[in-house]
Amino acid sequence: MELNELIEREKLAVELAKKASMLMKETSGSLKTIAQKESHADLVTETDRNVEKLLFDELRKHYPSDRFIGEEESSKSELTDEPTWIIDPVDGTTNFVHTFPFCCISIGFAVKKEPCIGVIYNPFLDHLYTAIKGQGAKLVKGDGGEPQELRVRSCNSLRESLVMTEYGGSRDEKKRDAILKALQVIQPNCHGVRSMGSAALNICSIASGYVDIYYEFGIHIWDICAAIVVLQEAKGYVCDTQGGPVDLCARRLIAASSENLAKELSSLLPVHLELERD
Ligand code: IPD
Ligand code: CA
Repeated sequence: MELNELIEREKLAVELAKKASMLMKETSGSLKTIAQKESHADLVTETDRNVEKLLFDELRKHYPSDRFIGEEESSKSELTDEPTWIIDPVDGTTNFVHTFPFCCISIGFAVKKEPCIGVIYNPFLDHLYTAIKGQGAKLVKGDGGEPQELRVRSCNSLRESLVMTEYGGSRDEKKRDAILKALQVIQPNCHGVRSMGSAALNICSIASGYVDIYYEFGIHIWDICAAIVVLQEAKGYVCDTQGGPVDLCARRLIAASSENLAKELSSLLPVHLELERD
């Protein structure tokens, strides 16, 4: 796809993320419907559904032949080579429910299964991350703020790194066991382990240079698509937890400031969960 077509799409995605974020702000702290999905800790609210509907409706009006994958769709579309919007209307729904201000709208766009546009907006901090493949990644803080070019920080080894991971919303015993086994190995070998509750914002933290590496088993394509573009454009690196090329539908990921760091963490992970694919 031509660069000007990507630029147009990014511009629209930013406008729509800002518009849809009003729904998050209006309902924050006064949610009427909080439903459970896979477990009592895997939540969805009316706002998740309304934000997704607004984004899908508007994007479809402008780009009727693009494809769409969204977290709240009742029957999930398959990822193909066609131009596809990959959207998480609220990433960090548990944070949103608790009014913990680290959640965002995450709008990704992929062509030939390759993430090409990332727009991530946290309305509570007014942080907007944007990236187009080959064009760099930016962060704008506040309305009318100066765009800052994003760049990862260099970190030589896991022992000197700040790591992020998540425990996720599943309460499946096998998965919990794998997460704890990984933590037992990683925690003694780094400076610290953090968990922010939003996969997209975790990855943007690496792009911003204040976290070095993130890994998770159980994420979905809509949690990571947009953030992958932001990180790659900030000169970061993504791969599968076993070190191979990232597979958007495999539900596991390492995102890091460098390939060396990603490979070091990968070689330490004691388990590599095989999960049902997106
Ligand atoms: C979740 C968040 C969470 C991560 C989960 C995701 P959601 O997304 O990103 O940090 O641990 O794997 O599914 O459900 O809040 O959109
Ligand atoms: Ca979500």
